[in-house]
Amino acid sequence: MMMVMMIISLLLLSIHINLIENISIEYKNNLTKKDCTYNDGRFGNIDLSRVGLKQGIPAFRHVPKDFYFYSYNPCYAFSEETPCTDVAIFEKNGSAYYNLGMNSIVSWSITIDGKVTLVYSVLNRQTIVNLECRDEIDELVINGEYEPRHYNLTLFSKCACWNGC
Ligand SMILES: *[C@@H]1O[C@H](CO)[C@@H](O)[C@H](O)[C@H]1NC(C)=O
Ligand SMILES: *[C@@H]1O[C@H](CO)[C@@H](O)[C@H](O)[C@H]1NC(C)=O
Ligand SMILES: *[C@@H]1O[C@H](CO)[C@@H](O)[C@H](O)[C@H]1NC(C)=O
Repeated sequence: MMMVMMIISLLLLSIHINLIENISIEYKNNLTKKDCTYNDGRFGNIDLSRVGLKQGIPAFRHVPKDFYFYSYNPCYAFSEETPCTDVAIFEKNGSAYYNLGMNSIVSWSITIDGKVTLVYSVLNRQTIVNLECRDEIDELVINGEYEPRHYNLTLFSKCACWNGC
């Protein structure tokens, strides 16, 4: 009897720990907008939180390139048509929408001379956003598809400079 109760309470304890872990992971994901800020010992900080818009609309909407349109918002998710809900980047071709990236699934690539590229990966697509330091109005340039389903964008912004924002 004692043994059974011990086993049951151990089981309950492990379920409880699992729940706590899941909750803390979710909490962490909400707080770290991974494409938003970056801290580097050599170069300093990049903070894109003033480039992205917070109201669920993208900073760059329907930027044309060839027959396609691209929308991008760093830091804060936005939505248009399914399956492009809570995305960072999408491509639109007529009435077809393709999710090209999420704010939470991204990696930062920094060259030795401090050039920064954000790499978004989602399903079978990948998007690179090259950050270019420029002290003028923010601009998004679509360089194109450099391989099938691999997209190349450049974001010009003061906030793309090290310690610029
Ligand atoms: C995290 O995001 C989820 C889904 O959007 C939401 O339900 C939850 O309340 C958020 N948690 C925190 C701590 O903000
Ligand atoms: C874009 O849409 C056109 C017209 O519907 C279609 O012919 C073309 O294959 C589409 N391109 C891609 C990459 O989906
Ligand atoms: C992305 O486009 C820029 C500007 O045209 C170019 O310099 C760079 O090499 C391209 N990157 C890739 C991976 O194609």
